[in-house]
Amino acid sequence: MASFRNARIVLADRVIEGSLNAEDGLIAAVDDGATSVGEDFEGDYLIAGLVELHTDHLENHYRPRPSVFWDPMAALHAHDVQIAGSGITTVFDAVRIGSDLDVPDMKPHAEKLVQAIRTARDDDRLRIEHFIHLRCELPSHDVLEHFEAFADHPTTRLASVMDHTPGQRQFTSIEAYKLFYKKQMGGTEAEGDAYVADRLAEQARYSTPHRKAIARRAKELGLALASHDDATLAHVEEGVEDGVRIAEFPTTLEAAAAAHDAGLAILMGAPNVVRGKSHSGNISATDLVRAGMMDILSSDYVPFALLQAAFLLPERIEGFGLAKALAMVTGNPARAAGLDDRGEIAVGKRADLVRVRLIGGTPVVRAVWRQGKRVS
Ligand SMILES: [Fe+2]
Repeated sequence: MASFRNARIVLADRVIEGSLNAEDGLIAAVDDGATSVGEDFEGDYLIAGLVELHTDHLENHYRPRPSVFWDPMAALHAHDVQIAGSGITTVFDAVRIGSDLDVPDMKPHAEKLVQAIRTARDDDRLRIEHFIHLRCELPSHDVLEHFEAFADHPTTRLASVMDHTPGQRQFTSIEAYKLFYKKQMGGTEAEGDAYVADRLAEQARYSTPHRKAIARRAKELGLALASHDDATLAHVEEGVEDGVRIAEFPTTLEAAAAAHDAGLAILMGAPNVVRGKSHSGNISATDLVRAGMMDILSSDYVPFALLQAAFLLPERIEGFGLAKALAMVTGNPARAAGLDDRGEIAVGKRADLVRVRLIGGTPVVRAVWRQGKRVS
């Protein structure tokens, strides 16, 4: 049993000063007012553990340099430590599937990461709870085969369908894409042109049938489905038809508004909030929050950005409270992924909890509990 007192407790809709008790891994009581029982929080925040739906961070640990592939289990543990220390208690690790020029044989890599997560979960040796988010690159010739290999398992709960073909979505200009490609891969202009031509041909052949097949299987398997980088009304309509529930990183206001109107949960990158802009020149997440069109934040490529962005939003936007900001990193992502047992401080929910102190504007994570057990 864990007891905490003298805490600023952030509930789903307001902040109270008081105490909390956890029993058998669940929140058993939340009270406002003073008590003499339990660990003294000295006025620190007590918030629900963060829920992260899309982090590239495991893959970054597994492939720390373009030509270096690290031991997958060691990568997972290093990732687990940093994610837990960032106040995240449930994480969906992004695993890219579908071979491309960068990784021509993707399956063994995806296999190693998926297997590491499943083994470490079974052994109960991870600090926080890890699930798998399959990121499906639709124009890739072998994405369906990879999907079938990893989708039908309780650790896989979320799939997103992506199309990074030049001239599309994240890269509307082919010239901008060539520049990005050159920076990432090196190579001559002629090689860049040939690469773009290959990608366009693959897209024409595979994107639509793969999208339909993955959407159908996701529905059968009960996976939450997300679209990625929606740029137009047509992208959103296509997603709705496919049963998409989450719109990841819409790139234009038009697409975000359409997704919002269609009742999709809109997910944007926390680094975008922290930086005040998108790294690829797309819409600003903070502007979307102002327009009342954002539901979920994701740490994307910087784990600590999730908590930092949630504490920044109330400072940046007048009248936007901490409870609402934190809902974007706790209750909203939990619900979108079908996890109704967590993401909120309320009696009966999982005792996934974080102690936070704001020091010089930085939300410092002082302690983390998963199901009432201290893990960081
Ligand atoms: Fe993207």
